[in-house]
Amino acid sequence: MPRTPRKRAATEHAPVTLITGATGFLGRNLLYRLLDADESSRYALLVRGSDRSSPRKRLQRLLAGRYGDERAAELSKRVDLVMGDVSWEHFGLDDRSYEALAADTYRVIHAAASVAFALPLEQARTINVGGTKHILDFAAACQKHGDFERLDYIGTAFVAGDRKGTILETELECGQTFHNTYEQTKYEAEKLVREHWKDLPITIHRPSIVVGESKTGKTSSFNVLYFPLKIYARGLWRWIPGKPSTEVDIVPIDYVCDAILGLASNPKSLGRCFHVTASDHSTTIGRAAEMASHYFAQKPVRFFPPAFYMNVIHRSVVVGTVPFPRLHDTLINKGSLYLPYFLMDFHFDDREARSILGAVGIQAPKAEDYFAQIFQFAIDTDWGKKLPDRGD
Ligand SMILES: NC(=O)c1ccc[n+]([C@@H]2O[C@H](COP(=O)([O-])OP(=O)(O)OC[C@H]3O[C@@H](n4cnc5c(N)ncnc54)[C@H](OP(=O)(O)O)[C@@H]3O)[C@@H](O)[C@H]2O)c1
Repeated sequence: MPRTPRKRAATEHAPVTLITGATGFLGRNLLYRLLDADESSRYALLVRGSDRSSPRKRLQRLLAGRYGDERAAELSKRVDLVMGDVSWEHFGLDDRSYEALAADTYRVIHAAASVAFALPLEQARTINVGGTKHILDFAAACQKHGDFERLDYIGTAFVAGDRKGTILETELECGQTFHNTYEQTKYEAEKLVREHWKDLPITIHRPSIVVGESKTGKTSSFNVLYFPLKIYARGLWRWIPGKPSTEVDIVPIDYVCDAILGLASNPKSLGRCFHVTASDHSTTIGRAAEMASHYFAQKPVRFFPPAFYMNVIHRSVVVGTVPFPRLHDTLINKGSLYLPYFLMDFHFDDREARSILGAVGIQAPKAEDYFAQIFQFAIDTDWGKKLPDRGD
C-alpha cells in the first residue's frame, strides 16, 4: 500500500495500535506477544467495565497476572486505556476523544466479540456485526488522519456453518446455514469487512478451535473442547455421536498469535483472508478421544451413529431418564450447543496462510505434540476454577 505522509503533528506521542478484546483469551495473548516483542511500541486498549471491576483495575490485573506488579507498572506506561464499548457508535466516546484516538492510531486489531453460542440473534448482532461496523468506521477515521497501516480483523473459520468438504480462505458466501447465532453473526461481520477491502487496508484472520499454549497448556478460556473433555475426564460421559474418523481442527493459542502477528507483519496479507487452522495437521475425534482416554485413565470413548445418538441417547437425557439432574442439565444446556462440532464434515484449506507463513516457518503443531499439556493445565486449574490471572 502506498504510504502517505503522516499528519500527526498535533500529537507528541508515538502512534498507537488499538486493540479490542484485550481482556479476552485471544486479545490478551496478542497483547502479551506485542509487549514482549519490543520495548517502545504503544498500545491503546478499548476496555469496558465489568460488574466486578473498573477498566483500570482490569488492565492492572491483566498485566500483573502475567508480569508481576513491578513489570506491570512499567508496561502500563506504554498502554493507554480507552473506556468504551464496540457496540456503541464511536465506542461511546465524545467526539473530541474519538478524533484524538483516531489521530493517534496507525493500526487496529479487532478481537472483541461475543463468543457465546446461545445469545439471542439481535444481541449477538449488536456486538459482532455492530461492533465490527464501528471498528470499520474508526479505521476510516484513522485513515483521514494520515498513514493508517492496517486493520487486523479476527474472524472465525466457522463462518463455514454447515458446509461440507474443503473450505477455502477465498470463499465466504456459499449458501451455508449456521449452527448458532455466533457463527451467523461472525459471517455477517466478515461479509461487512470484505465490502471494505476496496477502501481500507484489512486482513481477515480465521482461527478454528483455539486451546491453551502448546508448551504449558495455559489458557484463560475453557470453551468448546474443554467441556466434553471435562465430563469425560470425570467419568461422567463417554458417548460421542459421529465417526472416529471425523476431522477436528484445533490450534493452540501460541500458534494462533504467531500466525496472526506473522501475517500482520507482511503487507502481502492486506485485502486477503487467512485460515489460522491446523488444516493438514488436524487430528480426528477418534485420535483425540484415544489421547484423552490414555491421559485421564478412563474407559475408551464410545462412538454412535448421529441418528441413533439423537433419537435414543440424547432423547433419553432430554426426557430425563438419565438419573442425575446436574448431569442432565449440563448435557442439555451445554452439550446441545457443542454437539454440531462433533458432526462437522469439512477441512479448512490454508494454502493462502501457508503462502506467507511457510516462508517464515510458522506452522500449527500436531495434537500429539501438545495435548498432554492442555489436559494437565485443565486438571491443575480444576477446569478454570483456579485460574490466577483471569484479568477480571
Ligand atoms: N476462542 C476461540 O476458540 C476462537 C476461535 C475462533 C475465533 N475466535 C475469535 O477470536 C476473537 C476473540 O475471542 P476470545 O476467545 O478471545 O473471546 P473472549 O475470551 O470471550 O473475549 C472476548 C473479548 O471481547 C470483549 N468484548 C465483548 N463485547 C464487547 C463490547 N461490546 N465492547 C468491547 N469489548 C467487548 C470482551 O470484553 P469483556 O472482558 O469486557 O467481556 C473480551 O475482551 C473473537 O472475534 C472470536 O470470534 C475465537
